[in-house]
Amino acid sequence: MAKILCVGIATLDIVNEVASYPSEDDEIRILAQDQRRGGNAANTSVVLSQLGHQCYWAGTLVNEIDCQIILDDFDHYQINYEYCQFLAQGKVPTSYIILNQKTGSRTISHYRDLPEYSFDEFKKINLELFDWLHFEGRNIEQTLKMMTYAKQHYPKLVISLELEKPRENIEHLIEPADIIIFSKHYAQTLGFNSAQDFCHNMGRMYSNKIIFCAWGSSGAAALVSQKYYWQDAIPVEAIDTLAAGDVFNAGIIDQKIKQQTIKQCLTNACRLAAQKCTHKGIV
Ligand code: FRU
Repeated sequence: MAKILCVGIATLDIVNEVASYPSEDDEIRILAQDQRRGGNAANTSVVLSQLGHQCYWAGTLVNEIDCQIILDDFDHYQINYEYCQFLAQGKVPTSYIILNQKTGSRTISHYRDLPEYSFDEFKKINLELFDWLHFEGRNIEQTLKMMTYAKQHYPKLVISLELEKPRENIEHLIEPADIIIFSKHYAQTLGFNSAQDFCHNMGRMYSNKIIFCAWGSSGAAALVSQKYYWQDAIPVEAIDTLAAGDVFNAGIIDQKIKQQTIKQCLTNACRLAAQKCTHKGIV
């Protein structure tokens, strides 16, 4: 069991299930609706907590009615949010999600009107308490300060980073991280159509890093010390793929903490992500 701090966002996810994905300007019936706590770092914390780790989440929230569903979920899964910054104004980041019952695909429209977590808040945390820090790749300027500070003052602390969405200067976050988990979307935006090419390219630039790359329903890859690893996805009938990537990240972190081999990390993280896709929600 490890003590893990995940820094990123928590959201309210309003999930609308539809029989098939609509066309533009269509009018369709929602077959079921569900409101869940979401957000990449928050999702990863909840899965890690279910895997037996002691998890803390840090980010911003606002005192408004939609916040309660997030806090209730954190309480339910024993996620400590004492380092969360509660702001007086703004709106809980909200995602309006179309979940296609036919394919399990999730289409996310995200709205946010809330300042991001600041380095000043982060600096108040006693990082000595932790074994592992996980960051969501966002809020680049402040996150870079947090990661650099943590690396300088607590060099033994392992830092993992999720790079899911390409954003300006986001690659600056790679240097202070030990483990980077890239998404297929990120790799493709950089012009790579294969996980292998992408990993080798990243491995040349960042030879001292452990690189993982989730490749959607095909599987996932890793590159460590120029050695490439691949794991096919475990075939399942997907009914809900929302947050499968966040679950994969939790699987990798859990397996690394348990000192499993890179191959085992990939196999178990793919298994966990596949299992997630077979049911609604992440746990
Ligand atoms: C899934 C997710 C959702 C959230 C959205 C934010 O990965 O974390 O829970 O609404 O992404 O980008």
